[in-house]
Amino acid sequence: MPYYVRLGKVPPKRHITFYKDDGKSLYREELFGTKGFSGIYSNKYHIYMPTQVKKIGEIDIGKQTEWSDAPLQYYHFFTEKKKTDGDIITARNEFLKNDNCVISTAHVTEKAEFFFRNSYAHELIFVHRGKGNFISDYGILPFEEWDYIVVPKGTTYQIEFDNYDDNKLLIVESSTPYDIPKHFRNEYGQLTEDAPYYERDFKPPQYMEPVDKKGNFELILKVRNRYFKYLLPHHPFDVVGWDGFLYPYTFNIKEYAPKVGQIHLPPPVHLVFTTQHFVVCNFVPRLFDFHPQAIPAPYYHSNVDSDEVLYYVHGDFMSRKGIQEGSITLHPMGIPHGPQPGKTEASVGVKETDEYAVMIDTFQPLQVTKNVKETMDEGYSQSWLEE
Ligand SMILES: [Fe+2]
Repeated sequence: MPYYVRLGKVPPKRHITFYKDDGKSLYREELFGTKGFSGIYSNKYHIYMPTQVKKIGEIDIGKQTEWSDAPLQYYHFFTEKKKTDGDIITARNEFLKNDNCVISTAHVTEKAEFFFRNSYAHELIFVHRGKGNFISDYGILPFEEWDYIVVPKGTTYQIEFDNYDDNKLLIVESSTPYDIPKHFRNEYGQLTEDAPYYERDFKPPQYMEPVDKKGNFELILKVRNRYFKYLLPHHPFDVVGWDGFLYPYTFNIKEYAPKVGQIHLPPPVHLVFTTQHFVVCNFVPRLFDFHPQAIPAPYYHSNVDSDEVLYYVHGDFMSRKGIQEGSITLHPMGIPHGPQPGKTEASVGVKETDEYAVMIDTFQPLQVTKNVKETMDEGYSQSWLEE
């Protein structure tokens, strides 16, 4: 998505004959695009028709997470307390969700033999701990700790970890694409001089030999809360080449170059990705505001039309008490929020921070799940009372 990429062999023009080595049979072109035929897209060249399926069935992964009478309040919960052994699907635990955004974490303990496709959602996978390869028909995308993996809706993939003892993913599903904010691009699409990242920071997939294999291959498709199992007659990673703007890629949070101001700058300055229904910001180590009387901690604020979710990655977060790595706080719309007692005063005169956190601000309320109830810090909503 950040720029044009071409891997493997592709014909000289789109939509023309492209023969296999036998000179008689055609490679199958697949246009993979967003927004109908008007958004960004890639053209992939398959050995087999991508539409072939032998058998279709529905599966139940048995996760009912609804907490229908959850109160409107501030939440803090510990995602590290909810570990479910399993693969890239069954290890996921949903914490917060609405029609356009689902926030889960996963400690993946098993390698999946099947292929996975999230058919209705784009995925942003933040690798809190772990290292490995994200493999798709676009090629191999190596990932490491603190990478974001941006996965377009409909991508068929497998994730392989170097180890299954200690990894941790934050997964944010979105009904609309993850975009680089428009104001970070110039009229030609290139990242501007004042964008917090540059094209070199975005890593596309690397070339992988296509797999030409017939047999039985299992593909699991996620369609909102339903899961389907397809039996494919050929290996899905049969692409000999592709080109375009739509593909999975990685970006490491440490590459984000933050901006600082003389006095407190609001969260939009930490923006990393936008979608149509929420934005993603990240907080990274930076110098604090340099006015002699500056208060680096945020002022109390009411964002009446957004729910604010913070996932804490590393370091001591300046405005919060009792936070651990892997904690999430939810400050919902409709009630003001801000630093806890003592945190504003403690921030005065502080020169820098080493915090890392990922923030998701949704424009519709999030539903809190039973996993939040199970892992929450019960006293958090009253933690602003002064003794
Ligand atoms: Fe806020």
